[in-house]
Amino acid sequence: MADPYDDPVPDLNDPIPPADQPWWREAVTYQVYVRSFADSDGDGIGDLPGITSRLPYLRDLGVDALWITPFYTSPQHDHGYDVADYRDVDPRFGTLDDADALLARARELGLKVIVDLVPNHTSSEHEWFRAALASPPGSPERARYLFRDGRGPDGAEPPNNWKSVFGGDAWTRVPDGQWYLHLFDTSQPDLDWRNPEVGDMFEDVLRFWLDRGVDGFRVDVAHGLLKEESLRDQIAPEQPTGTGAMVERALNDEPMWDQPEVHDVYRRWHRVLAEYDGDRMCVAEAWTQTPESMARFVRADEMQQSFNFDWLLAPWSAGAFAKVITGTFAALEDVHAQPTWVLSNHDVVRHATRYGGGPVGLARARAATLTMLALPGSAYVYQGEELGLEEVEVAPEHRQDPAYLRQKDTAPESEWVGRDGCRVPIPWAGERPPFGFGPGDAQPWIPQPLDWASRTVEVQEQDPGSTLAFYRRALAARREHALGSSDTVEMLTAEGDVLALRRGSLTVVLNTGPAAVELPEGEVVITSGDVTDGLLPADTAVWLR
Ligand code: GLC
Ligand code: MG
Repeated sequence: MADPYDDPVPDLNDPIPPADQPWWREAVTYQVYVRSFADSDGDGIGDLPGITSRLPYLRDLGVDALWITPFYTSPQHDHGYDVADYRDVDPRFGTLDDADALLARARELGLKVIVDLVPNHTSSEHEWFRAALASPPGSPERARYLFRDGRGPDGAEPPNNWKSVFGGDAWTRVPDGQWYLHLFDTSQPDLDWRNPEVGDMFEDVLRFWLDRGVDGFRVDVAHGLLKEESLRDQIAPEQPTGTGAMVERALNDEPMWDQPEVHDVYRRWHRVLAEYDGDRMCVAEAWTQTPESMARFVRADEMQQSFNFDWLLAPWSAGAFAKVITGTFAALEDVHAQPTWVLSNHDVVRHATRYGGGPVGLARARAATLTMLALPGSAYVYQGEELGLEEVEVAPEHRQDPAYLRQKDTAPESEWVGRDGCRVPIPWAGERPPFGFGPGDAQPWIPQPLDWASRTVEVQEQDPGSTLAFYRRALAARREHALGSSDTVEMLTAEGDVLALRRGSLTVVLNTGPAAVELPEGEVVITSGDVTDGLLPADTAVWLR
């Protein structure tokens, strides 16, 4: 069988002289989860004016850009990843004028802004889906989505065996008997990207935000837009469901993900972005199964970046980290793209908790972050990780994540994951909730833990040993010592508990083991913990010169 991916790669990305490099190439981008960053109006929900008021904090932290999760008109069944109007701001988050003010202020401060684009599905309240429900089977209105007749004698069985990422069937039946596909929640019907109307609509949406001055787009579920045309059954139906399935790596049969035709969409978007000045960009959220398939999204005529989730999925192990670094560079070599690195986002358990929680988890999180910040390419940090925040145990009555709610109905308790615990609002200041998240005593949409009193920005700004102070130092050290020095790394040690690598004149050593190890010669530039007497303690990283 012909390899469907075997299309020629144009060589547009020949090495570019450093001064002319696009801004995103080595940028550190800070992810803002809009409903949980800062609340300006006291409704308990973060909003655009809240973000604008805190932009100086991001400038002082030393990041280059921010990515803001969806703030468009939405019934909020998936906290904005269910968009009802792509060209307007949800009143909970502000207005289009607020968006313009945010972009203007960011520009003044020298920060780039990436917005989230959700092209795989709309909200069930989008005017297109309302029109589809009001129209008969076979109508052009239905043809923008994936409506199909069911199987079985009365069509009472779903059209195929696909499961929703959030648990349960991926199909919902409408009153006239047809079914529609939703790879996520029932309120998120999947669009049919084989219908040209869909591509035209999204080109307009891109231009709408590009004209307003955004610097880029984070593309939600970028590997999902096109499904295998037959919508055949998936072989391996016993694959686990739930958010956990997003992070499974088992080369499954996946007729719903990562189809070759999806790349035509990104070639079109590449051409649209190229019409604008200022190196506008797209970054793919593509949970692909291999580094090679990740690399396809960043071929020279497609997107500029793709999240490198292998880094985030790696366990706490020097060998595992080394393997990801080597594998990433190997996969990207053919397409001449730069990697990205990320440890946390709004869909996964915070990395301080993943690495064991408590003081050990925090030490490891800082060490992994410091290692990441030395690597060539661009890095993404998720709001709150600079405060060393951990995943919060959210009580069932406060849970809002549709993944949790669907899993509760469809899966055994051991499989309920839920993503609310990494989405708890940021503690800015003060002794008790809302910790300055909103004005006065206005409580946030989901409760903050009381012991965050010791984790606020206000407290950490006073403490040179705090995680916030560490992030500021690390980001400054990255600018001074790592950036531009070399596009590759040389792996020095990748065995046992020690990862050592060289980038330009910088040597990076990470100790994932339980015992201190001897450091190579060199002047210490920065460390994630305490380095004394030439010894690197357990769970610590260092940069040497
Ligand atoms: C992406 C988002 C996630 C959302 C899902 C459906 O994975 O990051 O938060 O629930 O897409 O849009
Ligand atoms: Mg608000």
